[in-house]
Amino acid sequence: MIIIDQLIDHNAVRVMQLPTNHRFIQAAFGQKADRVPVWLMRQAGRYMKEYQLLRSKYSFLDLCKTPDQAAKVTLLPIDLLDVDAAILFSDILIPVEAMGMSLQFTEKGPQLMNPVRQQRDVASLSIPEPEEKVPFVMETIRLVKKELGGKVPLIGFAGAPFTLMSYMVEGKGSPDLKTTKQFIHQEMDLAHELLDKVAETTIKYLNAQISAGAEAIQIFDTWAGLLSYDDFKQFSLRYLQKVVSGLNRENIPIIVFAKGSGIFYQDLLETKADVISIDWNANLPVIKREIGSQAAVQGNLDPYILYSNRDSIRNCVKKLLDSMKPYDGYIFNLGHGILPDIPFDNIRFLVDSVKELGVYD
Ligand code: CP3
Repeated sequence: MIIIDQLIDHNAVRVMQLPTNHRFIQAAFGQKADRVPVWLMRQAGRYMKEYQLLRSKYSFLDLCKTPDQAAKVTLLPIDLLDVDAAILFSDILIPVEAMGMSLQFTEKGPQLMNPVRQQRDVASLSIPEPEEKVPFVMETIRLVKKELGGKVPLIGFAGAPFTLMSYMVEGKGSPDLKTTKQFIHQEMDLAHELLDKVAETTIKYLNAQISAGAEAIQIFDTWAGLLSYDDFKQFSLRYLQKVVSGLNRENIPIIVFAKGSGIFYQDLLETKADVISIDWNANLPVIKREIGSQAAVQGNLDPYILYSNRDSIRNCVKKLLDSMKPYDGYIFNLGHGILPDIPFDNIRFLVDSVKELGVYD
């Protein structure tokens, strides 16, 4: 009898811990959760001294490509912050390298040699098979899943076609996308050909992450907010739609993040994503009220608040959480990623505050 009881208990714990019953997945699908779930963009990174120690031994790209180390970094914020979801440690430019471009990370950020400008540049790019060209990503996912044992869900991710194209055309980050904008207007057909190729690559890449065990997907369209409305529709939204519609998404919530989502959120609903991640200058409760049950929302604390003292952080968290209390389908996050020089203790304090103040009545 005791043995059977133990078995039943054990199973109950297992069922409780299945990620589909997890508050992050529930909120992402617009269902009621016990409290607001919290994770943070760029939660695996330089603000942690444990990460800096690993970076003193490995280059960033080597860390991404060494599954046991990448898995270790993915798990750091689970151990040190106790957030409600893990996000794969990798970079949006990994599949771009696999398409055939040469990638380096320097002091100035990512650099892609021989930027794409002409027909022959686009023609030379391949649509890689993920298990052949980036097996380390799927291996990292499998290792992380084993370690997590269902404690929290694992989010896989990719860059959106437009944001990836902007790096491919500029060859590096750009504050205004000057060359990309010239490219999409002067070489419109070529731009669409490139976006199609990137979208195909991204669909295969994300489906491989899902097959390997990713339980949610976030697509980052970081630079979409720099586009005019017409260009956003043609060059960003259309390809976000294409990617989302190509995913094997049963039971897998899809989150779309775009800087500028505050302006474009109505259109982003057309992607049929489960969650729209909103940046910090938008009025989140108003957006949620307007979109109702069409999608859950994620966001949107200004990450710069985290340079302030605890009282200010707590006040801002409370204000945001109170304004979102009437709604299910809300995931707490920042409007954009954690900056590397934000004090670790402030981030830990933020997460603890959300857990305390985000309980639903
Ligand atoms: O969120 C996470 O913790 C998961 C890991 C992750 C990284 N990059 C690790 C990283 C994710 C999801 C990304 C996405 C990413 N990468 C985006 C989209 C999100 C966003 O921030 O808008 C973009 C645009 C990139 C491209 C990129 N990678 C840039 C521009 C830079 C340099 C700027 C910077 O923050 O250093 C990176 C490097 C990078 N990606 C680091 C990390 C931890 C720092 C690398 C280091 O250790 O030096």
